[in-house]
Amino acid sequence: MAKVKVKFICTECGTESPKWLGKCPGCSAWNTMAEEKETVVKTQGAFVTGNGTKEKPRSIIDIESGREPRIETRLNELNRVLGGGVVPGSLILVGGDPGIGKSTLLLQTSHALADTGLKVLYISGEESVRQTKLRADRLGALSKSLFVLCETNMEHINEAIDSLGPDFLVIDSIQTVYEPSVQSAPGSVAQVRECTSHFMRLAKVKGIATVLVGHVTKEGAIAGPRLLEHMVDCVLYFEGERHHSYRLLRAVKNRFGSTNEIGIFEMGEDGLTEVSNPSEQFLSERPLGVSGSTVVASVEGTRPVLVELQALVAPTHFPSPRRTATGVDHNRMALIIAVLEKRIGMFLQTQDAYLNVAGGVRLDEPAVDLAAAVSLASSFRDAPTRPFDVVFGEVGLTGEVRAVSRAEQRVKEAEKLGFKRVIMPEKSLKGWKPPAGIEIIGVGTVSEALKAAL
Ligand code: TYD
Ligand code: MG
Repeated sequence: MAKVKVKFICTECGTESPKWLGKCPGCSAWNTMAEEKETVVKTQGAFVTGNGTKEKPRSIIDIESGREPRIETRLNELNRVLGGGVVPGSLILVGGDPGIGKSTLLLQTSHALADTGLKVLYISGEESVRQTKLRADRLGALSKSLFVLCETNMEHINEAIDSLGPDFLVIDSIQTVYEPSVQSAPGSVAQVRECTSHFMRLAKVKGIATVLVGHVTKEGAIAGPRLLEHMVDCVLYFEGERHHSYRLLRAVKNRFGSTNEIGIFEMGEDGLTEVSNPSEQFLSERPLGVSGSTVVASVEGTRPVLVELQALVAPTHFPSPRRTATGVDHNRMALIIAVLEKRIGMFLQTQDAYLNVAGGVRLDEPAVDLAAAVSLASSFRDAPTRPFDVVFGEVGLTGEVRAVSRAEQRVKEAEKLGFKRVIMPEKSLKGWKPPAGIEIIGVGTVSEALKAAL
């Protein structure tokens, strides 16, 4: 007989407690402990990470290496993010804001895989089979071996999987499915955890590549605790500005590949299309010869992308000036403003400053620093930047410009897009030869960079 135990679980981090607490002892969040009734009888262990069979320890030398087999989807951007394709038997979690296009992406992926002859099962707990069909009609995602099921009960889902034997499985979304033996509501921590570990077992034992769609909370984390992210093999975030058509698929965890890879898509009338030339797209609306606009060569994952960085510096009407950064880290912006004040002597304390990455993209790497410094200085002095300059480099606290990785690739991308000059760290110039068609200006300090650029 199953015993029902009551406990409290933090909805943010999954910390458990036998009694209610106002503040979570795990992540210090307030008011996040939620009551869960959990049946204590567990049929299997919570985690199975191997292939489900019993094995003896082996010497690492005797284990055959070789690449993981991959199922390549027709969507190259998705392949790139996953490190070359879907690994059979892997469990992938895709998170993102509501309405950003997760269901669209996965239906298109399902179709692409089904077209290659794989058996694909798309289980939706949010939309009816008809709604899914309507969407598939619109996307042109009709394929004989793409099966659709509208179901949330884990027992029925299991039966369907057993009878169909799919190669690829999509669960849209993990917050809607429930295990009847666990006595809490769908979407609760206990349910999400139980169902995820169940899919993990299925994926490993049966070798079914599985994608779970996860909702995100207000703060942008995948709902249901962080725990979920630890259990799966890959965590991908689908992100973008609602009012922009660009969507980025970003890997934040990948047991089979690098994590900082991004895939770029554009949402259109008939679904998502891949953006294979992101630099051209991101620069298409750029104004030329204005102050405050700089093009930065940023590397996202392994691919260089040229993006416009805009700054506006204007006199403030507030006692403490505003500092707003969109698409770049707020703290990096504060640092660069401090460097401009202290090392260059710009008086920015009476100025509001805004920094914005055009196109709704997020740039996370330090090579953006120098471009941010040039944009801010250009706007402050009202001195236009040259339209055919590209700038990149990390800025240190003494105002020095530090070397960054993949300088050669960044320069090549700039040359390919017809830029004439690159202002970059002189320390990154060692060990490679710049292409002939582009002028390289190596700088050691922010002050040198500003002299060259403005
Ligand atoms: P959806 O995939 O349902 O988002 P999610 O599953 O992440 O909640 O995408 C819904 C949005 O995408 C909706 O606002 C309409 C838009 N959309 C298009 O613009 N074009 C399309 O072809 C499709 C299918 C959706
Ligand atoms: Mg959806």
